[in-house]
Amino acid sequence: MTGRTHGNRSAVTCHLKCDSQCARPDPNTSTEPSFAEIAGRQLTRRALLAGAGGVAAASALPLAWPQAAAATPRRGTKPLAFTPIESVGDDVDAMVVPTGYEWTPILRWGDPLFNRSPRFDPSRPNARAQELQFGYNNDYLDILVERGGRRALLCCNHEYTNRAIMFPPTSTAEQEAEVLRALIAAHGFSVVELERHAPTRPWRYIRGGRRNRRITADTPFRLTGPAAGTALLKTVADPTGRRSLGTFGNCSGGTTPWGTILSGEENFHGYFVADPDARGGKRYGMTNKPSVYGWEKVDARFDATNPGYANEPNRMGYIVEIDPYDPDSTPRKHTAMGRLKHEGANVRVDRDGTVVAYMGDDERFEYLYKFVAKRKYREGGSAAARRHNLEILTEGNLYVARFSGQQREDNDNLGTGEWVPLVFDGRSMIPGMSVAEVLVFTREAADAVKATPMDRCEDVQPHPTTGRVYVACTNNVQRGTAGKAAPDAPNPRGLNKDGHVIEITEDRNRADAATFAWNLLLVCGKPEDAGTYFAGWDGPVAPISCPDNLAFDSEGNLWVATDGAPSAISKADGLFKVPLAGPERGHVQQFLAVPIDAETCGPVIHDRDGSVFVAVQHPGEDGSWAAQRSHFPDYVPVGMRPEPGDWRGPRPTVVQVTKQR
Ligand code: FEO
Ligand code: CA
Ligand code: CA
Repeated sequence: MTGRTHGNRSAVTCHLKCDSQCARPDPNTSTEPSFAEIAGRQLTRRALLAGAGGVAAASALPLAWPQAAAATPRRGTKPLAFTPIESVGDDVDAMVVPTGYEWTPILRWGDPLFNRSPRFDPSRPNARAQELQFGYNNDYLDILVERGGRRALLCCNHEYTNRAIMFPPTSTAEQEAEVLRALIAAHGFSVVELERHAPTRPWRYIRGGRRNRRITADTPFRLTGPAAGTALLKTVADPTGRRSLGTFGNCSGGTTPWGTILSGEENFHGYFVADPDARGGKRYGMTNKPSVYGWEKVDARFDATNPGYANEPNRMGYIVEIDPYDPDSTPRKHTAMGRLKHEGANVRVDRDGTVVAYMGDDERFEYLYKFVAKRKYREGGSAAARRHNLEILTEGNLYVARFSGQQREDNDNLGTGEWVPLVFDGRSMIPGMSVAEVLVFTREAADAVKATPMDRCEDVQPHPTTGRVYVACTNNVQRGTAGKAAPDAPNPRGLNKDGHVIEITEDRNRADAATFAWNLLLVCGKPEDAGTYFAGWDGPVAPISCPDNLAFDSEGNLWVATDGAPSAISKADGLFKVPLAGPERGHVQQFLAVPIDAETCGPVIHDRDGSVFVAVQHPGEDGSWAAQRSHFPDYVPVGMRPEPGDWRGPRPTVVQVTKQR
């Protein structure tokens, strides 16, 4: 498939990532009236400027968790300084970084992770080999630097696969089965040890590192929380309802203060054949046609119409917690955090130890959620504290956001909102639904309390020092002009091709607050277009479209990775820095651009080391095995020929950008 559909995106991405949901009827058929009706107000650029003008003077807020992603602090080093790049064309097969910086691959799809890993050879797909190699389509990324600054753990999701450019077409049933098993093995998650000789030198991965690990769509998981063990999660292969196999569709995520990774199971529906009329079927986009990936041909559990497997889709769509420090640990799925198309989860810890996770359901007109854990965070590195902290996300209250365009006098804001409980103190707050039903059919529960349908919440990240929460609403081309789909205060633009970023301030700056105020940080688009807005910044600014992954640097600036190119706004996808405070607030500056067809994932900002990391996802995805569009990252220098046997197709890759030495 080639061509662009459903807004800005490649039809290939749409098909593989989410089974082209945008082309299908809206799965949210709740009858919640629009905000335009509730608030009776649409935001104009003038109103935005007036409403957001005073938020620059953010007060420092009492959080327990300092800068999470900070690398080794070194005295006398300067923060990451750069001259912004210009927007890059969508037909450019190049990684573009600022003058004075260079990029190097750390890990590419197929790189051998273990001493016994076979050599990468995509011409002969092999599932066992792929289980021992770096997976495909890296998305969420973190680099956990260890004491001394010379070792780190790279932790990375592998969201989905682009079969047409990975492997040659098959001609026998045996070959086909092996390709399908290799695709199962290319999904999931990787933990890989890194080393560097000095804090200023680039990282290299350690083949055979003690904690290297591949988790695939076949790895055993444990289900935790109130829905685990209930009838809704039992299958013929798992009569306990507590053990499932594999994770897939892992999009974004977050790293907890206790050193685990949270990973969001997002577009799981495209992997199953399932009865759309079963409970939750239509609401989660299930169909009974052959699945996008065809895994049902090699594993009966992917066809939920097979006797005994009806609940198999109920075992996907969770927040997964992985302990990267213990390669023997069993990864877990936390039912207490609800079942949706989870983009990811990011944790904030208050000084009193209260733990809250913010989560988005990334589909048009779906909702924004918050989980408040029952247990409090315990500081310190003792084994007892660690055991305690590993149980934090198994029990708590689950809320969904209901926004209002009602402004408050005492606060610079464009509106307010409330967190509406779905599960509270172990009880269901939804009449007619048990706790397990709320946690397995969470969208249905959120419909019942008239949560606010959003323009596709991707990353939702609390700021590490101010506590404000940033919500990347990537786009919604079906946001209309009237009726239920009309623009509203927090989703202020019809035919929202370019997306926006909402800034939430919890009341009393308590992570567990029941109410909040909100503003718009960015309404993305062309700087010269009056329909766009950059937090009050009116100077020269980079065009930006489709905000997706978010990160912060050690100075508290927001970094926004985009997923929507090519578009009329920003051509190749990129990474942008956005100051949040002071006179530079809203000054969007582009740091890098990724190669043809690729999306910018990660990112990780270790500014005190002068380093930025991105996971370059689906480069060259509109190509085919015989006609590749990208050769990233192993470009052959001009004038040189590839070595015989070298593979010249694209490889999704984790890239490090550092200052030139
Ligand atoms: Fe996988 Fe929501 O992007
Ligand atoms: Ca994403
Ligand atoms: Ca996206």
